[in-house]
Amino acid sequence: MNGFTFHIPTKIYFGDDEFGHLGEEVASHGSTVLLTYGGGSIKRTGLYDRVLSQLRGQGMTVVELGGIDPNPRIASVRRGAELCREAGVDVVLAVGGGSTIDCSKFICAAAVSDRDPWDWFADKTTPIDDALPLVTVLTLAATGSEMDNGGVISNPETNQKEGRGAPCLLPKASFLDPANTFTVPPFQTAAGSADIISHTCEAYFSQDHDLYFLDTFMEGLLRTVMRFAPRAMEHGDDYEARANLMWASSWAINGFADGGKTQAWSVHPMEHELSAFYDITHGLGLAILTPAWMRHVLAKDPEGTLPKFCRFAENVFGICDPSLSDMERAEAGIQALQDFFCDELQLAGSLSAIGIDEEHFGAMAEKACHGPAIKGFVELTPADVVEIYRACL
Ligand code: NZQ
Ligand code: ZN
Repeated sequence: MNGFTFHIPTKIYFGDDEFGHLGEEVASHGSTVLLTYGGGSIKRTGLYDRVLSQLRGQGMTVVELGGIDPNPRIASVRRGAELCREAGVDVVLAVGGGSTIDCSKFICAAAVSDRDPWDWFADKTTPIDDALPLVTVLTLAATGSEMDNGGVISNPETNQKEGRGAPCLLPKASFLDPANTFTVPPFQTAAGSADIISHTCEAYFSQDHDLYFLDTFMEGLLRTVMRFAPRAMEHGDDYEARANLMWASSWAINGFADGGKTQAWSVHPMEHELSAFYDITHGLGLAILTPAWMRHVLAKDPEGTLPKFCRFAENVFGICDPSLSDMERAEAGIQALQDFFCDELQLAGSLSAIGIDEEHFGAMAEKACHGPAIKGFVELTPADVVEIYRACL
């Protein structure tokens, strides 16, 4: 196993009785705050009023940027940075899901930089080395943005959706109250859960030397999401289900599970192109692509992938019938995952079902590879990626 550094200084306030610390936490970073949020769910749920009352209770000056879109746009980053400079903002408070938090990370960086923020995505070697402090209040369990240092921004003018990360973008503190996710509708609960599953699989399916402890941790994480996502979809206010999904979302991607792994992720780059071209929900795209990707890499490199797929089938889905060959067991595990996405999470099972045809597959595949190939669990060339998209039709 490779060595690694693991350092997550994000302070987590977990649970409904911790929310009362929000005002003092934000005020500890300064006196003027930019409050960012999405399309209005926080106003409908009453969270907006509760947040404002805490900030006002600390005598803070509050500037606002609402209307951040799902698949957040570079224009919102630019607007937020402008507001920060105009008002002399000291700290940004993001209240929402991954889109609001991601956008806020780059607002924090752009506010203290002379660059246009798209420069960081157009040329990924451009350094991001300073940012305003960010505090988050998470309202949707999915991306893990509340406890990681990355984010993804879309540029609709160029059909691009690109990710960047930097230590200075890591939130200083995140408030994780499962009750703030009670109102997440079933579809977004399902898509968020598929995202958590995908983050875990991106680390789990690896040919780096594995650490038994981490593989076992990830299998438990996958079983947790599969146990509680259908419950949260049926009963939105099931605190236990929401709490398990929320904490799983943070730990699937905070660097713990893929400690020491060197391989690139495979399914996310392919999905980001779907979102870039068609503005679809990230988790839905992942749920459609993942089983097709699994079948493709199993067929392309059975020797290298079979042991991991067999372990996945057995330890995640309990498929251990001794009459099955290894290949049959591996395929049964992939089918079980696809059935979970389609039957339990009720997510569409194909690209055609969501109105996507093959028109842009070639261009999307080239962009997903960012060069000759995605160097993941099994190396994927643009031709492989096109085949995977086609298998999803
Ligand atoms: O905008 P509002 O009105 O708040 O409504 C949102 C939005 O319509 C709604 N919602 C959120 N919390 C709610 C709620 N509705 C009712 N009650 C609540 N409590 O849900 C919708 C989706 O929100 P969004 O923030 O877009 O979802 P998500 O958290 O899944 O974020 C997706 C974005 O994160 C990126 C994705 O690519 C996508 O752009 N990712 C970020 C990552 C990271 N930072 O590490 C990693 C991920 O792989 C992912 O790529
Ligand atoms: Zn994701």
